[in-house]
Amino acid sequence: MSAEVPPVPPNATVPPNATVPPNATVLEVEDLQAGYGPYRALFGVSFTVEHGEAVALLGPNGAGKSTVARVVSGLVRPSAGRVRLEGRDVTGFAPWRIARAGLAHVPEGRAVFTTLSVEENLVLALGRRGSRGDVAASLAAVYERFGVLADLRRHRAGTLSGGQQRLLSLAKVLAVPPRVLVADELSLGLAPSVVDDVYENLVALRGAGAALLVVEQQVERALALASRAVVLDHGSVAYDGPVAGAMEAVARVFAGPGVTSASGTRGADTVGVGARTWVAARGGNRPMTGYGEEPGRRRSWRTSRRRS
Ligand SMILES: Nc1ncnc2c1ncn2[C@@H]1O[C@H](COP(=O)(O)OP(=O)(O)OP(=O)(O)O)[C@@H](O)[C@H]1O
Ligand SMILES: [Mg+2]
Repeated sequence: MSAEVPPVPPNATVPPNATVPPNATVLEVEDLQAGYGPYRALFGVSFTVEHGEAVALLGPNGAGKSTVARVVSGLVRPSAGRVRLEGRDVTGFAPWRIARAGLAHVPEGRAVFTTLSVEENLVLALGRRGSRGDVAASLAAVYERFGVLADLRRHRAGTLSGGQQRLLSLAKVLAVPPRVLVADELSLGLAPSVVDDVYENLVALRGAGAALLVVEQQVERALALASRAVVLDHGSVAYDGPVAGAMEAVARVFAGPGVTSASGTRGADTVGVGARTWVAARGGNRPMTGYGEEPGRRRSWRTSRRRS
């Protein structure tokens, strides 16, 4: 796959919402509770994302990261709590209304219409996101940014590789720069060089004034982009603070109950170091699994930048 992904131009701006003060809290979740049928996945999750800020949403597999993302974008209705977007209560709004309000969600997996071509996917995204501009010009801008998609424009999305479909998901979202981006495991299935380029786009989007909530298994990637981190554990917030403290919080969550974060403890020994030490800290050469596992699904934290 080509690594040619020029970043969003630094002078690009996210259209402001005239009714919202520039430094306002852009995204606020308050005491969210949500689940799937009788299963409860979130137990009172609260945090905020400010204007022009990136927040990394971290946690082991099954911690509830994607559920938070789905609630925020309207795909899952919370059983309690509030979601506010630029001060407006959007709890329980349909996904299209939340998208129209300026929030874009790149969900886990491949959010493309597999039977449509790459270009048809992009045209649909432009229409759905309320782009009033010239579709041809918008498409040209997307193809300039994501050269590999230009080469594949006539191909059915379902025939693309997993990584290319992931890239198409992101391209669909960036075609109309959102004011809030919720990205769920963006790097999954992408070659490391492409991940570099994708993250450059995220940095530029943040610089253009968007608020970013980034769910990422490659912890270092997310922390390099973010100024704050929220660490989830079993559907509750275990840490909400600067990235400087996030690795220790992550280590603590992985070490489990009864392990403190004080210097010299098992959890603290792992802070800021690589994946092998994480494994060692968890008691041997076992896979770094979370809880709530489903057979056949990928299960781990990734502190390495490389993914095979
Ligand atoms: N569609 C679903 N139906 C039933 N349970 C679900 C569904 N989606 C998620 N869950 C469960 O809800 C809990 C939270 O899942 P969620 O996908 O939000 O976790 P996550 O932190 O995103 O995990 P991962 O790192 O594996 O993506 C898990 O126990 C999971 O098994
Ligand atoms: Mg997930």
